Amino acid sequence: GEVSMNGYDHYMLKEIHEQPDSLRNAMRGRLNDEDATAVFGGLNLTPQQLRGVERIILTGCGTSWHSALVGEYMIEEFARIPVCVEYASELRYRNPPIENNTLVFGITQSGETADTLAALNETKRKGHRTLAICNVVGSSIAQAADGGVYLHAGPEIGVASTKAYSSQCCVLAMLSLYFGRMRHMSFESGGRIIEELRRLPAAVEQALTCDSEIRRIASKYAEASNFLYLGRRYNFPTALEGALKLKEISYIHAEGYPAAEMKHGPIALVDKHTPSVFIMPRGTTYDKVMSNMEEVKARGGPVIAVASHEEAQIRRIADEVIMIPEVPEFLQPIVSAVPLQLLSYHIAVLRGCDVDKPRNLAKSVTVE
Ligand code: AGP
Repeated sequence: GEVSMNGYDHYMLKEIHEQPDSLRNAMRGRLNDEDATAVFGGLNLTPQQLRGVERIILTGCGTSWHSALVGEYMIEEFARIPVCVEYASELRYRNPPIENNTLVFGITQSGETADTLAALNETKRKGHRTLAICNVVGSSIAQAADGGVYLHAGPEIGVASTKAYSSQCCVLAMLSLYFGRMRHMSFESGGRIIEELRRLPAAVEQALTCDSEIRRIASKYAEASNFLYLGRRYNFPTALEGALKLKEISYIHAEGYPAAEMKHGPIALVDKHTPSVFIMPRGTTYDKVMSNMEEVKARGGPVIAVASHEEAQIRRIADEVIMIPEVPEFLQPIVSAVPLQLLSYHIAVLRGCDVDKPRNLAKSVTVE
């Protein structure tokens, strides 16, 4: 039946606000304190097969491809398994050499994306194990894969993916924990990751409280024709995702880049009409991103910073500062996506766009 909007003006806004709950649902029954690991019922692989994995390929399209990029950082950091991220549309025709003991994960909200299905079928035909990270139960991709993990995010109606993205990242974090604990990760580190995951829904709830502040910022920049989104490490995919959200629903041109790549070209775009959004919660590359932000400011570009700590320097450089709660680096993409989802939402509403059904787009892309 029809899913209600629950008093929200749009499905997208409702789904953004559902994220604390959808994250809880992704984790329900999957965290095991006794062994400090994650539990998955449907991978259909023996512990021996899982321990023998030498490479993981993560594939998908659009936003699901962005969560794959987040997964690459997570799995390599916590499980120390080499990861490749592939656009499904490219993987299906490129025919890359794939080593034995490779696991291929197709990441997809709908489970119906034609390119992702074809990429999985193509790798399966060559003898590789395929798994789905999927929201829609019983979908074509869920059926085609050898096994998988459901997101349990509930129906996502808005064409712009929000809660499915955060749940994909969350499932990938749990998978990293799971693989890590089968290899070199200590009991103690596993336990710490579980604790951090348990605190995540509350952090997302807190991030949602900047809604009215973001609406104010949106009204200031809604007329811009170009945006840059910049971040590093775990927040490089966040930059891509923020830019895609803005493009999809407000039809404003936006580019996401790793912040340090800016000086190799995109900085030429900076002028007083082009806002740059810096995703810079405190972490490994914080100081470096701060100097990138200073460079943009020095060239007269308006700066919006998404930060996790009050600091005089950020306030001095940035025109706008959006504060999000502090979480460990691997969970930052989940928390920092929230203000970017809200920013694109409010800008789209102000521009009179059809938020839930943007022009030219379909919720699931079942054609090539
Ligand atoms: C996300 O906001 C987009 N509408 C789109 O990029 C989407 O993520 C992509 O089409 C993949 O869809 P899927 O997750 O259902 O496979």
